[in-house]
Amino acid sequence: MPDDGRVDLLSIHDLHVHFHTTLGTVRAVNGVSLRVPRNHVMGLVGESGCGKSVTARAVLRIIPPPGKIENGRVLYHPPDGGTVDLALLSPTGRQLRAIRGRRVAMIFQEPMTCLSPVHRIGLQITEAIRAHEPVSRTEARERAVALLADVGMPKPERQLDAYTFELSGGMRQRAMIAVALAANPELLIADEPTTAVDVTIQARIMELLRSLQQSHAMSVLFISHDLSLVAEMSEQIAVMYLGKIVERGAAVEVYRRPRHPYTKVLMACVPHQTSTRKTPLQTIEGTVPDARRLPPGCPFSARCSEFMPGVCDRSMPAITSVGDDHEVACFLHSDQAEASS
Ligand SMILES: Nc1ncnc2c1ncn2[C@@H]1O[C@H](COP(=O)(O)OP(=O)(O)OP(=O)(O)O)[C@@H](O)[C@H]1O
Ligand code: SF4
Ligand SMILES: [Mg+2]
Repeated sequence: MPDDGRVDLLSIHDLHVHFHTTLGTVRAVNGVSLRVPRNHVMGLVGESGCGKSVTARAVLRIIPPPGKIENGRVLYHPPDGGTVDLALLSPTGRQLRAIRGRRVAMIFQEPMTCLSPVHRIGLQITEAIRAHEPVSRTEARERAVALLADVGMPKPERQLDAYTFELSGGMRQRAMIAVALAANPELLIADEPTTAVDVTIQARIMELLRSLQQSHAMSVLFISHDLSLVAEMSEQIAVMYLGKIVERGAAVEVYRRPRHPYTKVLMACVPHQTSTRKTPLQTIEGTVPDARRLPPGCPFSARCSEFMPGVCDRSMPAITSVGDDHEVACFLHSDQAEASS
């Protein structure tokens, strides 16, 4: 990863996460390196099954069983010093509990993953505040009202007493964000937070997340399968395919000049303002291969229109620089192919 002067809050190095199942080993994350600088939005994009959620869950050590970190480092660099390797901590230990929720919070596609159906919204927020800070009930309640106002809940005092089932989909999304932000985290991991809501609500939630990122001076790891959404939201983009980062760089650079054949295919699926109904939106041909049977060489080889026999199926292309703040892992953009032939 390049040394570009940005200060990292999180840096993942050569992360491998496997699921040892009776049907074989799923190599869900297969050597991922990724940085989330302070006060930055890093977008992680890729099709379903590429390993985005498993990467995110590895950070908080909430990988579903039988998933296991096999290798790699997940370094958290708190602004007040004292880098810690989250991969080495006990998932149920005190050190990780102090980071989870307080320093690093996560929101999901389905708000009910993190909200309780049987407790009022206000209690869920005040408990989250009081779990991390010794404030009185009255102060926690005042902060909860302010937070609900921050996330755009109308009549926030009244919403304190609402149950999640009384809220609309968009309002539940906002309540989930309020709970996540209750402890003022330094990093917010947003895993497809708007996939389940309609486009109008999606646009509002995205706007909200962007303004909260700035007002709270947070870093965000924003995950989506939608490249246009990720480009709009992020300063940096990492494109993931079959457990690997295949392209990474400044969002404008990757979006305007995608280099990896996979990113170009993702681009072709983005609806453009200039497109008319007569030009049907391209869909990606084929599916992500089974992560139990990885192809030899480049992970995209089976679907790549530029596949070079004897080159792409011989070894894995290393990620290499193709410009200022732009890297790609493809033999079309490196001299490794010549070196190995
Ligand atoms: N509990 C599990 N047991 C076995 N394999 C799993 C488990 N959870 C995830 N996987 C596998 O890990 C790989 C990565 O899954 P992951 O959920 O990270 O994908 P994703 O990129 O987040 O996809 P989506 O866009 O659908 O959320 C997939 O091959 C998936 O089948
Ligand atoms: S290395 Fe080969 S197969 Fe892989 S993306 Fe590049 S051209 Fe395609
Ligand atoms: Mg996912």
